[in-house]
Amino acid sequence: MTAPKPKARADRVSLWHYLRLFRADILSAQPARLYRAWMAEFRTPFFRSYLCNDPALVARVLVERPEDFPKSNRIGEGLRPILGNSVFVTNGEVWKRQRRIIDPAFEGGRLRDTFPAIAAAGQAAVARMPLGVVEVEAEMSHAAADVIFRTLFSIPIEDQIASQVFDAFRDYQRTQPLLNLAAFLPLPAWVPRFHRRGTKASAAKIRALITQMTEARAAQIAAGTAPDDLATKIMTTADPLTGACFETAEMVDQVAIFFLAGHETSASALAWALLMLALYPQVQEQAAALDDAPDFAALSKLRYTRDVFREVLRLYPPVPMMVRENTAPEDLRGRLVAKGGQIVLSPWHLHRHERIWKNPDDFDPSRWQTEENRACARDAYLPFSAGPRVCTGAGFAMVEGVLLLAQLARGFRFEPVAGEDPVPVAHLTVRARDGIRLRISRR
Ligand code: HEM
Repeated sequence: MTAPKPKARADRVSLWHYLRLFRADILSAQPARLYRAWMAEFRTPFFRSYLCNDPALVARVLVERPEDFPKSNRIGEGLRPILGNSVFVTNGEVWKRQRRIIDPAFEGGRLRDTFPAIAAAGQAAVARMPLGVVEVEAEMSHAAADVIFRTLFSIPIEDQIASQVFDAFRDYQRTQPLLNLAAFLPLPAWVPRFHRRGTKASAAKIRALITQMTEARAAQIAAGTAPDDLATKIMTTADPLTGACFETAEMVDQVAIFFLAGHETSASALAWALLMLALYPQVQEQAAALDDAPDFAALSKLRYTRDVFREVLRLYPPVPMMVRENTAPEDLRGRLVAKGGQIVLSPWHLHRHERIWKNPDDFDPSRWQTEENRACARDAYLPFSAGPRVCTGAGFAMVEGVLLLAQLARGFRFEPVAGEDPVPVAHLTVRARDGIRLRISRR
């Protein structure tokens, strides 16, 4: 078996059939021609959407004129119960202010301070790892949630509140297991939203727990006893323009997104990475050839492991698609798009584009050291998006991903299980339809 790719749908299907496929999984609902097209238009009675694979268009939307292409309001709909007014869903001035307060906590210098907490979570994941046939998506979710709690609030996942948030979050996802159609594209209000019962209740529970943690931290900051971690850093950073810090309620929204965006995504990437190690034993041996667990300075020298992780993010970008909306009529490759068009940017298709990448579906970490890959990486690689709305945690996630991968590869041998063929589908992030089971033994 090689790196799995979902089967594409037939080129022509009825709208009804398309919506049904889309609801089940947006990846397999697309035709194969999207891996070759520079742009594609989808017309339905409710909306028009435009998938842009042309690097010049992607740059226009994300980097050159992002203010003309804000996030579509509908995008947050499925997530709103849990994310409130977090930086992931806001636009305009509110979003700018939030980024001014949050960004300093993730800058390079802070990453060095955060490193020991990430490394401790990695060691805990190694110590916890079961042997035999193991479903690694669940293990990696556990590990990535641990990273977030340790770096944000200086507590391990075993902490009582942390483990309650983790469990409540799992319940939340069960009530809303698929990236839902209504959250993704604008449908009229009468179309059922597929929100299941229980979604609001579990969102309320998560928010209550996060509020408890945030209020406790505010009290520690006031008493001068707060640990020096990301939560303290963010809660004590004043907006340089207004001098105001986050109110507790607004901080709760941000913690919710750090938890969601920070652990679902990294967990997805790490689980696919372990599958790739299992499927490509030579890659695994090279990634495992480490004498010691790396420290912060050594991490930047782990070139091969970084290339493995980059290649995983190319073939299995945890955030497979992003949607923006044009605020004025726009010419896209000669097509005049009326205001309110849904502009879909798809790392999933861009990263496997047949006219950009050489052997796009091959898992080949060595491509990252070739000259010809440079242009592809610059023009057609955006696992963390690009421009001002780029992932806040991109640097953090690269440290976390490379370090945990190195720690796990050094500790264990991963092998495929006969008869198990994981198929990628888009849930909140790119996951395997029935999980990823691997045989794990100690090295
Ligand atoms: C492999 C791991 C990760 C991947 C692939 C990833 C990917 C992304 C992508 C593609 C976006 C842009 C979404 C859009 O514009 O629609 C994004 C936004 C964001 N990510 Fe990440 N992310 C990862 C890890 C993290 C971590 C560890 C954190 C925080 C601890 C984080 C925090 C955020 C936040 C706050 C945003 C919203 C930024 C904004 O809209 O201004 N992410 N991420």
